[in-house]
Amino acid sequence: MEKQAVHAGKRAAGYKAADLVKNGMVIGLGTGSTVFFAMERLQERISAGLEIGGVPTSYQTAIRAREYGIPLTTLDEHPVLNLAIDGADQVDPRFRLIKGRGAAQTREKCVAAAAQQFVVVVDNSKLAPCLNAPVPVEVLPFALSPVMAHLKTMGGKPVVREGLKKDGPVITDNGNFEIDCTFTVINNPEELEAAIAGIPGVIESGLFTGFTGKTNVIVGDEKKCRILKRIS
Ligand code: A5P
Repeated sequence: MEKQAVHAGKRAAGYKAADLVKNGMVIGLGTGSTVFFAMERLQERISAGLEIGGVPTSYQTAIRAREYGIPLTTLDEHPVLNLAIDGADQVDPRFRLIKGRGAAQTREKCVAAAAQQFVVVVDNSKLAPCLNAPVPVEVLPFALSPVMAHLKTMGGKPVVREGLKKDGPVITDNGNFEIDCTFTVINNPEELEAAIAGIPGVIESGLFTGFTGKTNVIVGDEKKCRILKRIS
């Protein structure tokens, strides 16, 4: 897909999600370029009088939210959120997701769990008939080798994510390493998410299978955006 079309799709989806936010809401702010568009639109709405609070899922999002004048809060102050807006790397027809390209999936999952509604914003390129992208896994540095070995016994091909403009492994916002683990086609994402979560030293994976019932997926393209119907 052309870069321009992807950009337009992300913008359309982000703006649509921001327009679902109502006065007085406390919302989760996911991470990534599509959420940035939602925050851009929230900035306009805040200038026009909208009052909200946002819980950011990464340093990147917190910095951008401050630039946009979006008041920030925490899960300690607001353990229940009205909704969370977040992007995804892959979405299947049952609204199971792979997330974590930005290594933010741990905080993103905490925020999604706290939210009454989970609004996922993507362009068309993220839709897939079944999940098959590499699964990001945040891991305690102390347990890197055993976790890698365990993932291999599960049929995965794990690779430690390397930094750009930084030598050595990516360090997450939580001070951990990030692994990308390829499993080819993931036939049972629920089972795989639970199995990865059960490995000692794993902090969180980018498989999101537990929120499908409260998820809305907004897909943007160059001309419009649509709200997907979940296949159950
Ligand atoms: C961050 O770690 C990811 O989970 C993002 O939410 C995901 O990669 C979507 O990013 P874009 O909106 O930039 O495609």
